[in-house]
Amino acid sequence: MSGWRARLARLAPRTLFARLSLILLAGMGAAQLLSAGLAVGERDDVNMGAMVDTVETDLRSAVALLDRLPRAERAAWLPCLEHGGYRFLAGPGDAGPPVQAPLSLRVLRSATRALAATHAFSANTVAGERERFQVHVRLADGDPVTIEFRPRRGLPLSPWLPYVLAGQFVLVALSCWAAVRLATAPLRDLADAADALGPDLRPSALRETGPSEVARAARAMNAMQRRIAGYVDERMRILAAIAHDLQTPITRMRLRVDMMDDPVQQQRLGADLLELQGLVREGLDYARAMHGQAETACPTDIASLLDSIAFDYRDGGASVQVEGARGAVLSTRPKALRRIVCNLVDNALRYAGTADIVLDCAQPQRPAIRVLDRGPGIPDAALDAVFEPFFRLEGSRNRDTGGSGLGLAIARRLAASLPGELTLHNRAEGGLEARLVLQRA
Ligand SMILES: Nc1ncnc2c1ncn2[C@@H]1O[C@H](COP(=O)(O)OP(=O)(O)OP(=O)(O)O)[C@@H](O)[C@H]1O
Ligand SMILES: [Mg+2]
Repeated sequence: MSGWRARLARLAPRTLFARLSLILLAGMGAAQLLSAGLAVGERDDVNMGAMVDTVETDLRSAVALLDRLPRAERAAWLPCLEHGGYRFLAGPGDAGPPVQAPLSLRVLRSATRALAATHAFSANTVAGERERFQVHVRLADGDPVTIEFRPRRGLPLSPWLPYVLAGQFVLVALSCWAAVRLATAPLRDLADAADALGPDLRPSALRETGPSEVARAARAMNAMQRRIAGYVDERMRILAAIAHDLQTPITRMRLRVDMMDDPVQQQRLGADLLELQGLVREGLDYARAMHGQAETACPTDIASLLDSIAFDYRDGGASVQVEGARGAVLSTRPKALRRIVCNLVDNALRYAGTADIVLDCAQPQRPAIRVLDRGPGIPDAALDAVFEPFFRLEGSRNRDTGGSGLGLAIARRLAASLPGELTLHNRAEGGLEARLVLQRA
């Protein structure tokens, strides 16, 4: 049971469009052939019945005519008595096996009704031909005459029939194509809209037109997109509000800590508060990154921006190098881009000690910024998970490398809003490559 299902699933075309087209075309094509066959069969049956009915009367009058004709004139009349299904021959005809074919028997019964009362006759099949038989009749003056029957089941088909059938099939195929397209296009639009609802949560509204079911699905999808965006927006506002309001009490506490007498406790509490403040700042940044549209885009020389970032780091004693293409100017939001690159460089410095920034403009429409390090890298299974907010690898859970686990989450949100794409790759020679591919508008 499941075996033939699996086989059928393997053979079936992959797209819904192709599957529906195949089912409709096969079904309608078979129905068309069936009805054409039925019509031809019915026509042949009616024609056969009419032929059998007329044989009796035609034969009776033809033999009566031959009876009355002078012997010398008969031969000249025989061709005139010929019919579609039989012909008259002078003489006793040929011997052969008895008549057995069903169609021949039906015609023979009709001939028997015409001749039995008035003439002596016999019948046999022409040797070697099943549906061809002869009736040998003795006329009133004793002369033999033979009637040879060749019953035909059907009439020949019109030569234009195949063209009409082909034309009908083309019409059916066109209607199937239009119907299947109409049914599958909204599905494609729904999938596109769901895909477009990426990390930046900018909904792409579907057109709420078309057949009522499609318009309803589009309305539901649009409403769902708005609801999701609304929920996320609300959560981010709450996060931003909490993070913002926490800053004031933390600052107050730091002032109080500064006035403490016990230097050991003062130092410990001060460090904790600093960490707390960092966490709050990151939370606020994350909330802002989700909304990251405040900044407007402007033409930016990417290489210069990277140089200035590296310079700032080197100024603070860190080892950060920039290489690659020069002069690439892109319309982008420089503060967001700087924040992304800084988060990536921070990671490289924190987990590997050094960072190399490479600007790659091999594809002018999609310039890429790579931040490379020679650290431990990230296990392949965790390459996606590290983008989750607050996700940190086990090895990073110590105070020396302590971060909040928001850096990559913020970077990816900002990248999506630029728009661009941020991915991580382990390098063959060891270390991690963070790759930001930007899109030229
Ligand atoms: N260059 C890297 N090499 C090795 N591991 C990395 C690297 N970059 C990130 N990771 C791992 O991914 C995790 C998530 O990084 P992310 O930048 O989001 O957070 P974080 O650096 O721990 O904290 P934050 O950046 O918020 O201060 C890190 O904890 C670390 O385990
Ligand atoms: Mg980080």
